[in-house]
Amino acid sequence: MSGQSGFPPASTSAGASDRDPTLNRKVAAVWNANADFWDARMGEGNITHLQLVSPAIERLLELRPGDEVLEIACGNGQLARRMARLGAKVLAVDMSEGMLEHARTRSAGLEGKVEYRQLDASDPVALAGLGRGRFAAVVSAMALMDMSEIAPLAGALASLLAPGGRFVFAVTHPAFNGTGTRRMIEEEDVGGTMVQRAGVVVFRYGTPTTAKGLAMIDQPEPQYFFDRPLNELLRPFFSAGFAVDALEEPRFAPGTPTSRVLSWLSFPEIPPVLAVRMRPMRPPT
Ligand SMILES: C[S@@+](CC[C@H](N)C(=O)[O-])C[C@H]1O[C@@H](n2cnc3c(N)ncnc32)[C@H](O)[C@@H]1O
Repeated sequence: MSGQSGFPPASTSAGASDRDPTLNRKVAAVWNANADFWDARMGEGNITHLQLVSPAIERLLELRPGDEVLEIACGNGQLARRMARLGAKVLAVDMSEGMLEHARTRSAGLEGKVEYRQLDASDPVALAGLGRGRFAAVVSAMALMDMSEIAPLAGALASLLAPGGRFVFAVTHPAFNGTGTRRMIEEEDVGGTMVQRAGVVVFRYGTPTTAKGLAMIDQPEPQYFFDRPLNELLRPFFSAGFAVDALEEPRFAPGTPTSRVLSWLSFPEIPPVLAVRMRPMRPPT
C-alpha cells in the first residue's frame, strides 16, 4: 500500500474453503525473500511504527511490569523488544524463519525477556499449544492484513488469555489504506490562492480482496495483502465473544517533513493505521 500505484492485480477471496492450500507457503516464501531488506529498513521501528503504531499499541495495551504477552506475526521483533524493555515477558511468533533470524540477532541481551518461535497463526492446533490462560495480552502489529486467515486466531484468543486479558492489534486502516485505494494531491485556485488538498480515493472496499503490493517501496518481492472491510475484520472476533473497548486512528502530525510527496506524511487528516483493543465478554468454556 505505501508504495502502490495504479490498479494492482486483485482477486476476491470468498472464504477459507476455496482458498489455495499452498497460499501460506507462498506468503512465508515472500516474507523470507524480503526479510533482509525489511530488517534493514525497519530496524528498531520505521517512522510509521515510531510515531503511530507503537505508541497507539502501547496506550491500548496498558502493560504492567511482568505481564506475559504473546505477539502474533512479530517480523524482526522490533515491537517485542519495546514491550520487553517496558517490563513485559514476550513470546513472539512469526511464520517466516528469515524474519525470526533477524529478530533473534537483534535481541541479544534480552534473553529471558523475549522468546521467538516459528508458528503459523492460522493453525489452531499450534495456537492452542502456546498455553491456556497464559497471556495477560495478545498483540499483533500491522500483520492481520498480511494473514490469509484470521478466524483461527480469533477462535484461539479466549483460551490463550488469562482472566482480564486483552487483545490489541494495529492494521493498515481498512477504509483508507488498502489495495482498493489511491492517494492524490490536487491543487485548486481559490479566489487567487493556490490551495492543495491531499485525499484518498476509495475504489474498492466492501469485497474481501487478496492482492499483491508493497508495504515498503523497493522491497524485493511484492507481498500478499488480504484486505477485509471492517465488518469482515472484526466479525471473527465478535463471533468468538470479544468486544471492542478502545480504538485509535493515529495520524501523522501536520507539517512532518517528507521527501516523497505522496507519502502518508502528506495526509495528516487521514489515518493510515487503525489500532483496536478487544476484551472477551465471557470466560472461556
Ligand atoms: C508487515 S510484517 C509486520 C511485522 C511486525 N509485526 C512489525 O510490525 O514490524 C507482517 C508479518 O506477518 C507475518 N505473517 C504473515 N502471515 C502469518 C501467519 N499466518 N502466521 C504468522 N505470521 C504471519 C510475516 O511473516 C511478516 O513477518
